[in-house]
Amino acid sequence: MMEENLVEIRNLSVEFKLKRGTIRAVDNVSLDIPKGKVTALVGESGSGKSTLASAILKMVSSPGVISNGSINMNGENILKMKQRALQQYRWSNVSMVFQAAQNSLNPVVKIKEQFIETYLAHKKAPEKEILAKAAQLLEYVRLEPKRVFESYPHELSGGMKQRVMIAFSLLLDPDLVILDEPTTALDVITQDYIFDILLKIHEELAITMLLLSHDISVVAKVADRIGVMYAGKLVEVGDIFEIFTNSKHPYTAGLIKAAPSLLEDLEHTVPIGGSPPDLLNLPSGCAFHPRCQFAKDICKQVTPPMEDVGENHLTACHLHHAVEMGSVN
Ligand SMILES: Nc1ncnc2c1ncn2[C@@H]1O[C@H](COP(=O)(O)OP(=O)(O)OP(=O)(O)O)[C@@H](O)[C@H]1O
Ligand code: SF4
Ligand SMILES: [Mg+2]
Repeated sequence: MMEENLVEIRNLSVEFKLKRGTIRAVDNVSLDIPKGKVTALVGESGSGKSTLASAILKMVSSPGVISNGSINMNGENILKMKQRALQQYRWSNVSMVFQAAQNSLNPVVKIKEQFIETYLAHKKAPEKEILAKAAQLLEYVRLEPKRVFESYPHELSGGMKQRVMIAFSLLLDPDLVILDEPTTALDVITQDYIFDILLKIHEELAITMLLLSHDISVVAKVADRIGVMYAGKLVEVGDIFEIFTNSKHPYTAGLIKAAPSLLEDLEHTVPIGGSPPDLLNLPSGCAFHPRCQFAKDICKQVTPPMEDVGENHLTACHLHHAVEMGSVN
């Protein structure tokens, strides 16, 4: 059956002009976000996940500019939207829980007031109605509305604040929720708890989600589809089972082998050697080549294009048909 895409990103590039030169934090990325599914974006720190996500809201942080591409949602290119339409689009069509968002709650305003303010900034409704909706969402994230409404942020734990942020993100019934590292600062038990909640919300509200994480094992529990980013490029994308059993990119295979909770055996995890590249001074050809055990001359000279390597599965590696990922280490 053909999947319907909620968002279609085409040839998207985001550049930061810095004193030392220009970096392309997102480099010619094309990605589909299927409706009603959980898509995850993974990759090491600095690979461009948050920049890509902020472009979906047309909210790239200064001095970043979207230098190329289109982002279509429901057939409309959001990069062409006027300011007023964008304000409506944010929160009501797409909402985002930013990285370390717990810290963005206003410390001197009770949670109840923050729900009301957020809602009224986008839509009109009686306070009673807003609070009824907020209470329902807090119950969804397994928080007690009465107590949380009357609390200030510092009276809540990190995990509770993160759940409040998730409830916020659902307040205006968006079609897409983007969650940027939703559990990174939390302990493992709280992480699992939050992912259970996200899964339940996804299933019951049929909401489309985009999850960003540097940890492939964390998103594996909830994602239907995974995109892997390296140095601003999308290097592999496919359905979760396909990626875990039949990855065609040495970097993806390396991420999987480096993830302890997937193998449940710390002794057999293998970290990827080397470190992420300097975006101001990218290696030629395939940016992964200095760290890739399969690299050949062509890898140093030519940037590999994204190619179809299976159903719903694309990869950008010159040697995708030759490489036996099982032997990557
Ligand atoms: N406001 C900014 N000014 C300058 N450079 C930026 C800015 N925001 C991001 N970058 C650069 O863009 C690149 C991608 O950053 P981004 O935050 O998107 O990566 P990420 O994959 O989300 O990393 P992390 O896992 O650490 O959150 C990095 O090299 C970063 O330094
Ligand atoms: S293109 Fe070459 S260097 Fe890049 S991942 Fe594939 S084999 Fe490795
Ligand atoms: Mg980030």
